[in-house]
Amino acid sequence: MKVKMRVPSTTANLGPGFDVFGAALSLYNEFEVEYLPNVKKTIFVLKGEGQKALPKNEKNLVWQSMQETFKFFGEKKYNLKNLNITINTNIPLSGGLGSSASAIVGGIALANVLCGDKLNKSQIADLGIKIEGHPDNIVPAVFGGLCICGKDERGTHGTVVHLPLPKLKVVLCVPSFELRTKHSRQILPKCVNLKDVVFNISRVALLTAAFCSGDYELLKKGMQDKIHQPYREKMVPAMNEVLETAVSAGAYGAFLSGSGPAIASFCAKKDAVNIQKAMIKKWKKESVSVKSYILNFDAKGVVRM
Ligand code: HSE
Repeated sequence: MKVKMRVPSTTANLGPGFDVFGAALSLYNEFEVEYLPNVKKTIFVLKGEGQKALPKNEKNLVWQSMQETFKFFGEKKYNLKNLNITINTNIPLSGGLGSSASAIVGGIALANVLCGDKLNKSQIADLGIKIEGHPDNIVPAVFGGLCICGKDERGTHGTVVHLPLPKLKVVLCVPSFELRTKHSRQILPKCVNLKDVVFNISRVALLTAAFCSGDYELLKKGMQDKIHQPYREKMVPAMNEVLETAVSAGAYGAFLSGSGPAIASFCAKKDAVNIQKAMIKKWKKESVSVKSYILNFDAKGVVRM
């Protein structure tokens, strides 16, 4: 039996919506598993971005997420000896585009099919959040679209609200260095100032209003943040300059994508190429080489191929 899944990249936070806002984008990883009852050793076939970097053993996140799913079902038939796993990664690793979330969702979705396809998307998201810890990449990777994720106290996905898909392009620049989310979270303060919280609440309200009304001019303010980006700035050279460059070049708004180091901007189709050029140029001036993408929003989330 062979199963293949496609999982989108995601951009999280969208500025002020730390751990709450996330959107699925049109850059995809593909995951395939084949059950071979008579073979003696699992073969990991790695292609693309993760070809050299991803582990070919039980440390592999796709494998670990499959294991969690087998455990959930109490299924003991599948192990590291009888599965062939192919991972084709187009999403840069540790770049701020949800590469880990995509691996987790891919692993759960593959294992779910091997176990009889009993989980719905909400249950896949719940399991994914349990593994990842925060919902804002997992939820859009599962459902697609632009999501507000209200995690409940039990740590499951809680309430998910799907906002209208913006009629916009997403320009992304991903620096060539990796920044692990774990590290990028460790540098955040345990407590934040009430003034900064009020600032972020106002920006989240503007952000939500912008997407609901289609008044994208609100994004310039609505994507401002004071509770995580300022602390992460020291790990992303010229972060503020690149954010300002994107907006000066015509973007409605710009933000650190997830925990970084990628920077994303939302813009009209006609402005995308100019914004991309300006962001690349700014970073080049700082001697940071980047990969750059102009993407659409993905509306489907994880799909079986
Ligand atoms: N919201 C997370 C963070 C990243 O900023 O650390 C995506 O889950």
